[in-house]
Amino acid sequence: MELITINLDLPQDSYAIHISHDWQGLESAIRTYLGNKVMLVTDENVKELFVHNVTSIISSMGCETTLAIIQAGENSKSLGTAESLYTQALNAKLDRSSSIIALGGGVVGDLAGFVASTYMRGINFIQIPTTLLAQVDSSVGGKVAVNHPLAKNIIGSFYQPKSVYININTLSTLPDRQFSTGMAELIKYGFIWDKEFLVWLENNIERLMKKEKDALAYAIQRCCTIKAEIVGQDEKEKGLRAILNFGHTVGHGLESITGYSQFTHGEAVALGMIYESLIALHMGLVDQSLVNLLIDLLKAAKLPTKIAGIDVESLIQAMSLDKKNKSGSIVFILPTDYGKVDIFNDVDQKLIYKVFK
Ligand SMILES: NC(=O)c1ccc[n+]([C@@H]2O[C@H](COP(=O)([O-])OP(=O)(O)OC[C@H]3O[C@@H](n4cnc5c(N)ncnc54)[C@H](O)[C@@H]3O)[C@@H](O)[C@H]2O)c1
Ligand SMILES: [Zn+2]
Repeated sequence: MELITINLDLPQDSYAIHISHDWQGLESAIRTYLGNKVMLVTDENVKELFVHNVTSIISSMGCETTLAIIQAGENSKSLGTAESLYTQALNAKLDRSSSIIALGGGVVGDLAGFVASTYMRGINFIQIPTTLLAQVDSSVGGKVAVNHPLAKNIIGSFYQPKSVYININTLSTLPDRQFSTGMAELIKYGFIWDKEFLVWLENNIERLMKKEKDALAYAIQRCCTIKAEIVGQDEKEKGLRAILNFGHTVGHGLESITGYSQFTHGEAVALGMIYESLIALHMGLVDQSLVNLLIDLLKAAKLPTKIAGIDVESLIQAMSLDKKNKSGSIVFILPTDYGKVDIFNDVDQKLIYKVFK
């Protein structure tokens, strides 16, 4: 497999996303941005797997590395963990010419990016994502954040990385449930943007589930290209970028009312895409065959497609707190055709009840 490079073009701070199946291209992908010192942030699981490879490459470039290891899991995306990273950065004497590298999933990426964006008003940041979700979604686009006990991702900013390096081989150790979670976001790109990718997914989803390398490389490259295109047009989510939230209005609502413990993010987004497509079906925006295709793909990706016993009242309550909402109405991203979605803020509440019954 050749090293694939995708450019994310922005008025300022354009950067490259590199996709490879090993670590050989890492040095040239990050050399320019490392500076004198690096803080490598990772979690305790990823540390055992890939830290050795990455630190030896950084050291061979003559760069001093401080390793900062956080506990795995969403609870680490907190101001408390951020503070401990600032302390470690200060102790290691990181300065404005130093850099922070995130090696891990979306938790490590969002947290390390937030610290990089605020330490000394911002130092260079590099993403080396190791989960499928992070490789197709969270490492690209510059949303960085930590959680507040009252709300997820509520303390954050837009802060683009200088470089993203994806080694798809890291996915070989990823637990199946985490792989499926990333598949939900991957399937999402087909529905929001790319009819041809949907056809490709129909024919190749089994190969993806077997983690066949060329299928993975193709799909990850498609997703990163689509995300780069959308973020390139609307970096700060003034409009278009909101379409990346297909499945997320219901998905975030489900995560919230189940205390973030019943579903992974991708599982909630999978269910969200189904129920939002059903809303679109009832509104006459799409036909049943689109909903069937979505369900078939999600089933093939070993994601849930049904929920029982949802309290619709609390779900609507939770959805009305969504960050996307403006002036009181719930915003939905709904499919209007294969590979097409639109933004709606006038969905009839009675319809929402009907779909969940
Ligand atoms: N910034 C964005 O645009 C954006 C987009 C989507 C999601 N997110 C955020 O991403 C987070 C979720 O990220 P995630 O799903 O990657 O979860 P995660 O970072 O918690 O990783 C999942 C688990 O997999 C382990 N792991 C990571 N790589 C591995 C590998 N190669 N082999 C074996 N185990 C590995 C981790 O240690 C962890 O236990 C959430 O906090 C969410 O808010 C951010
Ligand atoms: Zn998501």
